[in-house]
Amino acid sequence: DVERRVVELLARMTLEEKVGQLNQYSGREVTGPASDRKNTLLASIRAGQVGSMLNVKGVKDTREIQAEALKSRLKIPLLFSLDVIHGYQTTFPIPLGEAASWDLEAIRLGAHVAAREAAASGIHWTFAPMVDIGRDPRWGRVMEGAGEDTYLGSLIAKARVLGFQGEKLGGTDAVMACAKHFAAYGAAIAGRDYNAVDMSPQQLWEVYLPPFKAAADAGVATFMNSFNALNGIPATGSAYLQRDILKGQWQYPGFVVSDWGSIGELVNWGYAADKTAAAQKAITAGSDMDMESDAYHKNLAQLVQTGQVKIDLVDDAVRRVLRKKFELGLFDDAYRFSDEQREKQVLSDPQNRAAARRMAQKSFVLLKNENATLPLTKPLRRVALIGPLAKAKRDLNGSWTVDTDTTRITSLYEGLRQRAGKTTELLYAKGCEITGDSRAGFEQAIATAKNADLILLTVGEAWDMSGEAKSRTDIHMPGAQEELFQALKATGKPVAVVVFGGRPLIFDTIAEQADAILYAWWPGSEGGTALADVLYGDYNPAGKLPITFPRSMGQIPIAYSQQYSTGRPITRPGEIRYKSAYIDAPNTPRYAFGYGLSYTTFNYSDLKISRPQMRTGESVQVSFTLTNTGNVAGEEVTQFYLRDPVASVVRPLKELKDFRKISLRSGESKTVTFTIDKDKLAFYNSKLEWVAEPGKFNFMVGSASDDIRLEGSMELL
Ligand code: IFM
Repeated sequence: DVERRVVELLARMTLEEKVGQLNQYSGREVTGPASDRKNTLLASIRAGQVGSMLNVKGVKDTREIQAEALKSRLKIPLLFSLDVIHGYQTTFPIPLGEAASWDLEAIRLGAHVAAREAAASGIHWTFAPMVDIGRDPRWGRVMEGAGEDTYLGSLIAKARVLGFQGEKLGGTDAVMACAKHFAAYGAAIAGRDYNAVDMSPQQLWEVYLPPFKAAADAGVATFMNSFNALNGIPATGSAYLQRDILKGQWQYPGFVVSDWGSIGELVNWGYAADKTAAAQKAITAGSDMDMESDAYHKNLAQLVQTGQVKIDLVDDAVRRVLRKKFELGLFDDAYRFSDEQREKQVLSDPQNRAAARRMAQKSFVLLKNENATLPLTKPLRRVALIGPLAKAKRDLNGSWTVDTDTTRITSLYEGLRQRAGKTTELLYAKGCEITGDSRAGFEQAIATAKNADLILLTVGEAWDMSGEAKSRTDIHMPGAQEELFQALKATGKPVAVVVFGGRPLIFDTIAEQADAILYAWWPGSEGGTALADVLYGDYNPAGKLPITFPRSMGQIPIAYSQQYSTGRPITRPGEIRYKSAYIDAPNTPRYAFGYGLSYTTFNYSDLKISRPQMRTGESVQVSFTLTNTGNVAGEEVTQFYLRDPVASVVRPLKELKDFRKISLRSGESKTVTFTIDKDKLAFYNSKLEWVAEPGKFNFMVGSASDDIRLEGSMELL
């Protein structure tokens, strides 16, 4: 039925109306005070020259603008889109933090809550999930993805797509998702945003494309192309990416939106002489919708009339866009996402914040806990809460938030005040700012600390220090925060540190001398409450790092699976001469991928393998016993890695191939089983064929990529 309606409508459209469906404009001005831009936009909408708006939100505003679109000749409704990245009004932890939960159902639910709020507020389409593999902590947008690992990232991509979209487009508690940025944006040279990317085809296919394929397989409605050039071709103009791979090999039925202005940027790349050529190259390459370049609007009709662009290309793009509008039900009721009563009810639903609190608890990673400093269950009389982020609200939300009412964010100070109750007295001093080198607040912070039994220090990044266009060459803890730590540590009191931020930070002194460290990312609306839950032991932290934390910037790139076999491996600890090593730092990171502690401990035992050999088409089961050996209940993300020790191309030392998050009461044991099949053993060979080569494979079961507890091997015959 949808297909028939699309064909009928397309047959009635003029060329200008077709091009109109491929234009997207940002509409902050369209609902603002009178301006030339506002008048022009409204006139274009009424003329049927706009297919979609971004940045218009709320039932009132979207209704008003939709009414203008319905005045156009064919009354084709607009798509309202927005960057709903980690929540709409209720903010969840940043995506990198959510990834640290390794909890796919919680991640799906987070996306669902965000979609439900956004949809109730008139939004049809979110520009999420970002499924770019992010391996360079200098790149500000690592905060927005699922981290460095392809296997984990692919599962999270699927969970997020299902969370945003639901099972089928059209539900009014769901929005269309968008897998972005196609492709390889995360590998920008030197971690500098918007930069070129140069990578081998094997890397592209093995590491960077699978999360996009997973999103496509999960039915993601749209793709966004990318700001970067890949091996010399800007992604927005890349027919290889968009036509050959996405719409060709993958038979992807949705549409591709450009990134903001990226069609126009083909000119800056020196890939098109002017915007007309840029429009021609982009539509030919498979970019269906033009976000904010105005290149299609100004040039596409003429390019068709002069024979430089075939009308079939335009028709195909328009069909893809219309299909989604029909699937959303907008042709049956253009206002089905615009209901003020529903908006009010959904945005004030307490379940949303409850879900955000649970997700935040799951996102925290306990990096250190000497002498069981945490949780705060000992008879403490006074806790000194110190640091520039102790009372922060906006900073806890992080970047990419769209509907932030900062008064509704719970700070750590507020969370602790509610939880500490009568048992603990909470003292406070700021100590210093996030940036700058002033130590003016140190004295008061030290005096406050001296009156306390334990110091809780909050440090990290401000909300605008990671995110789009927020790459940094120096990812050390900013400002005088580490010095503040040192001054507090010198009081002799135990210091537990809570770190906020949008990327892995480097903090040597804190790492070496703090009694406890909890990495809290940017935890969102319920950050303070969730932190109090964890700091007081009401929730036992179980997060594991989805990205490697380097010791020094010189080690970057340092993703665990970028460690390959080499001709000169280090075979004995400390022996580095003429080995693949540094003379001034170890090769190992500060905190490895998959690392994270708990308030309890886990033992791995009884490794069993169902059979030592398998043929293609068969599988091998690896099982073991996991026991909670501590005094409290807890969860362990147990990880399964594989290595192909001899292959036709050089392989990584280990690759994550499976994991389970297991919940165990104190003293409880469970059997965990992982399955090895051909797909888990395969890789892209030098001819780009996906092959599993016969021979021996090593498997490793562990608590982190550098904490392998059980090992064995099997053979593919
Ligand atoms: O969705 C984003 C994209 O990720 C980066 N550039 C702007 C787009 C729209 O806001």
